[in-house]
Amino acid sequence: MIAGNWKMNTTVSEATELVKAMRAGLDQIDNVDKVICPPFISLASVGELIKGSSIKLGAQNVYFAEKGAYTGEISPLMLADQCEFVIIGHSERRQYFNETGEIVNKKIVAALKVGLKPILCIGERLEENEAGRTEEVVSEQLRSSLAEIAYLNSLVIAYEPVWAIGTGRSATGKQANEIIGLIRRNTAKLYDKEIARNMRILYGGSVTADNTAEFINQPEIDGALVGGASLKATEFLSIVRQTSEIKK
Ligand code: 13P
Repeated sequence: MIAGNWKMNTTVSEATELVKAMRAGLDQIDNVDKVICPPFISLASVGELIKGSSIKLGAQNVYFAEKGAYTGEISPLMLADQCEFVIIGHSERRQYFNETGEIVNKKIVAALKVGLKPILCIGERLEENEAGRTEEVVSEQLRSSLAEIAYLNSLVIAYEPVWAIGTGRSATGKQANEIIGLIRRNTAKLYDKEIARNMRILYGGSVTADNTAEFINQPEIDGALVGGASLKATEFLSIVRQTSEIKK
């Protein structure tokens, strides 16, 4: 799976231009799940443009309540008929909007309840990495995010080390493979081996057309969650094409 997180970029007309520029190319590739996650405000128009194609749509966030007096929030029910996926617990939400493990857990529960497929993001910060605490932090984020969740069948996990996001300094394929392997082993302990084996775990953090192969060639890595490079149609297409070739 290659998912593009457009973050807080593109007006509605820019979003429609961007999707038009990548639509035909993406649609030709059939052995990779392609997901694009535009801002909420563009979900409907982008959704219309990819209707009938193999491209899937995701949102970047969701609130956990079904409806009510939560000014400015978007509920899982509202998203369920607009898109298939939803990114939950992105480090930018944890950092700038105070999302805790408990909130992330509630959002995952709420998304699964209405049939949305969560892309759960976990990853350590620079100081945690430098202090040698990566495994501990990632394991704890996984545990708290999935607390009391019985079924994981549609969950995707993205390992995104915070120090690699938007910095141009990606992890190495080997580092990412190691932590993703750990996430898989922990999932097997929390659930079972079968679920862990089938779960897609992506790497995210400064993925570009130039370093895609380094990640996709790793045995534990099932794809990528791409930020900046997903805003350039030709680069995103190249990432998906390379993934398709490697996985053939
Ligand atoms: P960049 O690819 O821009 O580093 O962003 C990664 C990311 O946060 C995807 O969710």
